[in-house]
Amino acid sequence: MAKLSIRDLDLTGKRVLIRVDFNVPLSKDDTPRILDDTRIRETIPTIEYAVRRKAKVILCSHLGRPKGKVVTAMSLRPVVDRLRELLDHVLGEDENVGFAPDCIGDVTREIVMNLEPGQTLLLENLRFHAEEEANDPAFAKQLAGLCEVYINDAFGSAHRAHASTEGITHFVAQSAAGLLMESELKHLGKALNEPDKPFVAIIGGAKVSDKITVIQSLMNKADAILIGGGMAYTFLRAHGQSTGKSLVEEDKIDVARAALDEAERRGIKFLLPIDHLLADSFDPKANITRFEGTGPFPAGLMALDIGPKTEKLFAAEIAEAQTVLWNGPMGVFEFPAFAHGTNAIAKAVAANEDATTIVGGGDSVSAIHKSGFADKITHISTGGGASLEFLEGKTLPGVEALTDK
Ligand code: 3PG
Repeated sequence: MAKLSIRDLDLTGKRVLIRVDFNVPLSKDDTPRILDDTRIRETIPTIEYAVRRKAKVILCSHLGRPKGKVVTAMSLRPVVDRLRELLDHVLGEDENVGFAPDCIGDVTREIVMNLEPGQTLLLENLRFHAEEEANDPAFAKQLAGLCEVYINDAFGSAHRAHASTEGITHFVAQSAAGLLMESELKHLGKALNEPDKPFVAIIGGAKVSDKITVIQSLMNKADAILIGGGMAYTFLRAHGQSTGKSLVEEDKIDVARAALDEAERRGIKFLLPIDHLLADSFDPKANITRFEGTGPFPAGLMALDIGPKTEKLFAAEIAEAQTVLWNGPMGVFEFPAFAHGTNAIAKAVAANEDATTIVGGGDSVSAIHKSGFADKITHISTGGGASLEFLEGKTLPGVEALTDK
């Protein structure tokens, strides 16, 4: 990697501030529970690495979008217990994970200065201060003042130029990537820059507008692009098919048509669903009709999932690939009746054990976890917006700001 890594630095006895992305979903109860701890688990190797080297570990993160105010429901406090459990597990002893009620200020500074080597402290939500998202230099300087070494392991936030991801790097001598950050950049970078061929990209999700730049960027690399989810219907309309009440972005039909033309010009396989599960309403209990072919959809029905023939068609492409990248669900995955297509893709991706397989995006990641095959995937990205921007070929400010090797 072109950037400095945590492995290049001496951490022993030093105050090491690690920017992590603990933006995890919490339940809405009075005592919020963590609904998915993936982002915490994925950061454990970096924390363990620092603790084993007797660093004084200070963790900082945002959670949610509290807009510069203290919002109790967005406190990072519920994360401490889970973090302690996970660290106990890898380090084999009772870990002392502390919590500071703020991320800056005198009280926080005193807690930080009293840390012993090998201890871990989590700071309260950075976004309780508006200065974090404003990338305020004075705020960044205060954060920098807490540490001797700065590590960014928050790949999920690397597309944000905030005080804790970008600003802080101007006030510390050296800024290095954590192990998770390194792993994300390595795997996504390989897929984008030197994929083993054939390279098959599966792109799903509701809107063409959210993914068109990724699709355009992947056209430079992929041999086949498989499209599912709501966005497929804007592409099918661009192809001339009438799609009933399915979701279509009318103002993106031209963009979709241009992408289809470009794929044809370049000889890239651009596969759209060939059969569909149509519903009579957007409802988990809707009546379902399977529809196949290029004719008009029956009036009043909307597509909420790909059908079995499309599953087979896509699975056959995936089975031939040497690199597979998957981002976005194939249907309305939240409704069990329309989750089959997404689950079938999860199985097909996991089944290709010879390929490098990369999965990103909330719904595809949960489908992989639910399928029970997550351990068969080469890399599951913790980045939502960050992995999309990376795949679009954009520079991520949180990565760019790290010290060159
Ligand atoms: C994410 O969940 O994608 C990251 O934590 C970034 O969060 P944000 O979109 O609120 O900046």
